[in-house]
Amino acid sequence: MQLQDILYSQGFGTRRVCAGLVQQGHVQVYVPGEAAAQPCAEAAADFDTDALRFRVQGVDWPYAEKAYLVLNKPTGTECSQKPSTYPSIYTLLPSPLRMRPQKAAVQGVQAVGRLDQDTTGMLLLTDDGKFIHRMSSPRHHVPKVYEVRVKHPLDERQVRKLLDGVVLEDDPKPVRAAACEAVGEFDLRLTLTEGKYHQVKRMVAAVSNRVEGLHRSQIGNLALPANLAPGQWRWLTEADLALIAGK
Ligand code: URA
Repeated sequence: MQLQDILYSQGFGTRRVCAGLVQQGHVQVYVPGEAAAQPCAEAAADFDTDALRFRVQGVDWPYAEKAYLVLNKPTGTECSQKPSTYPSIYTLLPSPLRMRPQKAAVQGVQAVGRLDQDTTGMLLLTDDGKFIHRMSSPRHHVPKVYEVRVKHPLDERQVRKLLDGVVLEDDPKPVRAAACEAVGEFDLRLTLTEGKYHQVKRMVAAVSNRVEGLHRSQIGNLALPANLAPGQWRWLTEADLALIAGK
């Protein structure tokens, strides 16, 4: 693929802007076998994109046909491109990740499902429409683990009810936690395989308690990376994606 098209596909601007970045000497490419990035000022130079890495204005990037990211969502952020009250989580991503050209039905990199503004923790983002569909479909039962701080002391009865199923006001079919344990007097670890609106908060309210703090700690078998501080993101590896899929 031509270097200008590579940059375009990775969100560095219009084709003309990308050609300009290359011609003005802002781009280097990591050629296999060479440790240092090699300058390339020819916009139409051809590169194999397989495992390609390059540098733009001093920042290293991998070539990614599709982007798969994990973000540690901080509190007080909205999972919306057009937030109403709090800053959008998308402001936490560098501009190329927000500017990647639209793929099929997916408008650039998007959060896989949403967390409430006051929920913290693990959020996946991608521009792979099939991945979004797979992760969001109730048929696939991808477990999501939540660490829940509650207002009133927990007892066995509340945990049992959450496991047996509670009825939420918009659906007569009971929803149940796939796993639920009290890990402290006010702390619950709850695993859900679906993602209804405000589901954790509504389930906890249905057992006469109240969520005071909510953090998503795991999706599938992948835990939120311990070294990812609130507000930080990183690329997901193949191994991460396998863990998310339950392998
Ligand atoms: N359940 C909720 O109530 N809120 C979230 O953000 C996620 C799950």
